[in-house]
Amino acid sequence: MYVPEIDFLTFEDLPGILRINAASSCSWPEEVIRSDLKQDSDSETTYIGAFATTAEAPLLGYAVLGREKRSGLLMALVVDEVYRRKGIGRQLLAAISDCAVYLNFRRIKLKVRKSNSGAIALYTQMSFVGETVRRGYYSNGEDAIIMSASLPLKLSTRP
Ligand SMILES: CC(C)(COP(=O)(O)OP(=O)(O)OC[C@H]1O[C@@H](n2cnc3c(N)ncnc32)[C@H](O)[C@@H]1OP(=O)(O)O)[C@@H](O)C(=O)NCCC(=O)NCCS
Repeated sequence: MYVPEIDFLTFEDLPGILRINAASSCSWPEEVIRSDLKQDSDSETTYIGAFATTAEAPLLGYAVLGREKRSGLLMALVVDEVYRRKGIGRQLLAAISDCAVYLNFRRIKLKVRKSNSGAIALYTQMSFVGETVRRGYYSNGEDAIIMSASLPLKLSTRP
């Protein structure tokens, strides 16, 4: 387990976000990030990052919370490949949950590739359940699973 510093992201964190995206298959588009993080943005998205506790504080992962109708929407969750399976994704989701509760959302939703078993395992552990399947949602024809959870997210206990 690695306990990072969790904080909101600003435009200054863009290079770190792009570095993580470049090495990931689940990248959030650069033009969207630039537009969301610029100072006068009227975007309703919230960017939360996990930082290493060393002096240079590189970004280790980030998550993006948006809105879909009256629910929160997890729009991105990515952790630096080197730092995976250390609990950072789970801690980012816990921070997203706190923000979503603060914003008065009662539920949170997300879409995930059917083949992304690692992410689905994490979401299930954090109390998300599969709602529906959107056939051929991704550009390569892969199905998306829509998952949702009531807020706050709860870490399910293991048997
Ligand atoms: C999915 C992702 C965010 C998980 O981040 P992470 O920091 O490695 O996750 P955690 O360490 O908090 O994992 C918590 C639990 O989730 C489950 N889990 C996470 N990744 C898993 C994997 N690859 N395979 C199986 N289970 C996994 C495990 O139960 C894990 O607990 P454990 O390590 O004690 O067994 C990360 O793998 C990633 O960035 N993937 C690429 C981007 C992506 O697919 N994002 C999600 C969809 S857009």
